[in-house]
Formats: sequence, structure tokens, C-alpha cells
Amino acid sequence: DGFPAERLFNQGFSYTYDDVICLPGYIDFPTDAVNLRTKLTRNIDLSLPCISSPMDTVTESSMAVAMAALGGIGIVHYNNQATEQAAFIQSAKSRHIPLFADLIFKSPSDSIDSAGEFATSPCIFVTQSGNSKSKLLGVVGKSDWEKLSDKDVPVADYMFESTVSAPSSYTFEQAATFLAARKLDYLPLVSERDGEVVNVFTKDDVERIQGYPALGMPSLDKEGNFLVGAAIGTREDDKLRLEHLVKAGLDVVVLDSSQGNSTYQIDMIKFVKNTYPELDVIAGNIVTSYQAQNLIQAGADALRVGMGSGSICTTQEVCAVGRGQATAVYKVSSVASRSGVPVIADGGISKSGHIVKALMLGASTVMMGSFLAGSSEAPGAYEVQGGRRIKKYRGMGSLEAMTKGSDVRYLGDTSKLKVAQGVVGAVADKGSLLKLIPYTMHAVKQGFQDLGASSIDSAHELLRSNELRLEVRTGAAQIEGGVHDLVYYEKKSF
Ligand code: XMP
Repeated sequence: DGFPAERLFNQGFSYTYDDVICLPGYIDFPTDAVNLRTKLTRNIDLSLPCISSPMDTVTESSMAVAMAALGGIGIVHYNNQATEQAAFIQSAKSRHIPLFADLIFKSPSDSIDSAGEFATSPCIFVTQSGNSKSKLLGVVGKSDWEKLSDKDVPVADYMFESTVSAPSSYTFEQAATFLAARKLDYLPLVSERDGEVVNVFTKDDVERIQGYPALGMPSLDKEGNFLVGAAIGTREDDKLRLEHLVKAGLDVVVLDSSQGNSTYQIDMIKFVKNTYPELDVIAGNIVTSYQAQNLIQAGADALRVGMGSGSICTTQEVCAVGRGQATAVYKVSSVASRSGVPVIADGGISKSGHIVKALMLGASTVMMGSFLAGSSEAPGAYEVQGGRRIKKYRGMGSLEAMTKGSDVRYLGDTSKLKVAQGVVGAVADKGSLLKLIPYTMHAVKQGFQDLGASSIDSAHELLRSNELRLEVRTGAAQIEGGVHDLVYYEKKSF
């Protein structure tokens, strides 16, 4: 029955995940026996095949720590100054619990202009320098600030001076017990070395983290800190940026380009490999075997695949270049697997079934933007529109993001004429990643079980041995595969 991938994907069609369907295999193990351990790059292992995209509405510190705590990894975006990007990495590396809030500091003479200043944290810290680099003088809680009648005065006039804190090495259980015993809303965690505030543990963290089913192993570096990746471009000044990131503790670098088969990228791969031999480089984006060969030859440790398949992408329409994502993943992984280079399927994931297909077609991991953008760990605040809680999600090639600096990914230079290759939109509230990812991964395991694959390696074995059988779905088959023929039903409580 069906076709092996090598036949299906060699007939001149560009297939997306939804175009194809996998035929079931033979089950001889339970769902929980499926192991999703995988390779991010030649030298980095992950216990889950999940990566968050380097986009400014997806990955900053909170996303990076949550992804690493779950066993995946976050790639911090670079639509900012090098120092800001390095600070996100440092902040993620300093957390041992997947904490949520980003620290905000003021100096005693500063004032707080609006409630928006509390968007990423329930409190604001006051230090002499106005940043983390000096001793904590006081703290201002959002609810206390809201009660003030005159808000135009310096924070020194109303900050709460005696602050209780705990050592940053506290485990989740220690911090949660401490918070509950003292009936606190938030607890500053300070470095044992110099007393600087490095994190804040909040009541929200307790609720979020308590419910999360421990999954595999967190992704940790040799010192036991969370693994964190970051993206850079391929310009001269990105070399300087990389220096900042390496100093901040970066574990893996992504060379970010919408068409990665270029002399700029090949030179950059060589530069990184010569300058930081210990640092793995993820190259891309690519969609063909020819592109893959060039980047592998230059020394790439993993390949990022996808061109125009992302939910906010318009590259295929604007530039007429790209490929259906299922075909792209299969074609690149066929070449990459011969050199032992893992493939990252980037973009176009909106369901757990898409993850199953990406991994079955040869990818070792999936990179997601929109799927993670509405989570509480994504940057930005929720808004309520039309009765729904939503968060902004924008393409890095959208005019709005490019105006902030990401144009090099799409233009190769800082040209005066900016043509958008992405859009700005919003996605629905997905709740915390700490629940979303375990739930999604369980669905992926069920898909693997149906296919008779007990691991990602065995999935790839089924693919290469032609035991994996696939078919193309007609339009009607796709409709049949979704929910259909129901009328509106109002839920009643029984
Ligand atoms: P999803 O489908 O997960 O896709 O939302 C995320 C991926 O899309 C890519 N990306 C873009 N591609 N124009 C594009 O053509 C854009 O503005 C844009 N922004 C992000 C990127 O590879 C990301 O991981």
C-alpha cells in the first residue's frame, strides 16, 4: 500500500504537511515507550525535538528557560542591540527554575509612568545604579503602585525598603515553601556571590510550574545551567555581536537568513568554526539538496529547513522562491543524513500531526513560531479582542519588525527600499508552555506508536528502508480528515 517517500517526493510536486498522510504501521509497544530524544546539532542532544524560533514575538529569556526546562531549546532573537540580546541569554542562564518574569530596575530618582511598566513582572526593583549591578534598595509592587494617589514622585518616596530575598540557588520546592510561609506575592532571588538580584519568583510561577508534568530531562550545559541558543545575521558587525553572546554563555548559534546558500553564510560558518571551535553552528534556511551540500561542506553542524512555509511568511508570494515544507524536509534530510547532520524543520507547524510528519520525513527537531507565540512565556502582553485573549505575533520580515532592525535577514543589506516578506498578526492565548508542550508531545508519541516508530532514530530507519508508506491527500481527503458535517452545539452542564 502507499508509496515510499523516495517515490512520492520525486514526481515534481511541492507538498506541504497537509498534502501527505502516513499509512499506519505495526504497534508492538505502549505510547509511553516512545522516546523522543534527539539531536539538535552534531554535538548537542535534546530530550525533546522542540525549538522556539528566533523571533521578537517568540523567544526572549522566559521562552528560552521554559523550552530548556522541558528538554528542548529556545533561540533568542536578534532584533535588538547585541547587549540586549546578551542580557536575555545571561538572564536565561541564571535561572534554575523556569521562571517567568523579566526583571525591571529603577534608580531611586526615577518614577514609574504607567502600569505598562509592570507588563513583564509584578514588581519593579530599585537599586542605586538603576540596573542589576548594585545592591537592592527597595521594591515597588504593581498593586501598591496602583493605590498611590500621586504617581509623579520618585520611586524612593514610596518603595518598600525592607525586602525579603532568597538565594538564587533555591529549588522550586524551596522557593515555593518560602513564598507560602511568608504569604508573599513575589520573592527576589539574589546571587550568593555579590547579592545582586538575578531573578524573581512569583505566585504565578508556583501555579504554572506545579502543574507541569516532568518530561524527560531538561537541556543543561556542563555547569548544569539551561542550554540557550541565539540567532545572528551574516554581516561583519554580527561577528562582534557573537563575541557578546559567547561571553554571555551562548551554547549554539543560528545563522539566520531566508536563503542561506550564500557566500555570506559560508564565510560566516567558517569564521565561527575557526574562532569558536567549541560552538555548534546551525545554518540555513534552505530547502534543496544542492543548498544542503554547500552548507555541510562549509562545516554546518545542523541545517534549518523552510522557505516561505511559516504562518506569517510571504516570501513564496513576494519572491516566487521556496518549497512545500514536507518536500523540503524530506529532500534536505536525505542529503544531510549521509553526513550525520541533523535537520531542523522550521515553520508551518500548527498541529501535533505536523510534528509527526516532519520527524517521520527525516527532521530531528522542529522549530516553531506561531505554535508558541500565544503562550504566557512569549514576549508581550495579552490583549482582549472580540472576547478572545490574544498575543501579537509578527514575521521578522514584516515592515514593522524590519523597521526595528531585522531587514538583513530579508534584504541582505540595509537598503532604503523595504519590501515586506512577512505580516503582522496575532494568535490565540495558548496558556503556559509547561502544559502545551507535554500535551503536544504526548500526541506526537501516539502518532509514532501508530506508525510503529519507538524513537526518532527508528522513524528515520523506517523512512530510509522504505517501510514508511505515504500517500497524497486529495482536497476531499483533507476535508474528510478534519472535523466535518457537524452542526453548532451549545455545551450544557449536566
Ligand atoms: P511558523 O509557521 O512556526 O513559522 O509561525 C516560523 C518561521 O517562519 C520564518 N519567518 C519568516 N518567514 N517572512 C518569512 O518568509 C517573515 O517575515 C518571517 N518571520 C519568520 C522563520 O523561519 C520562523 O522560524
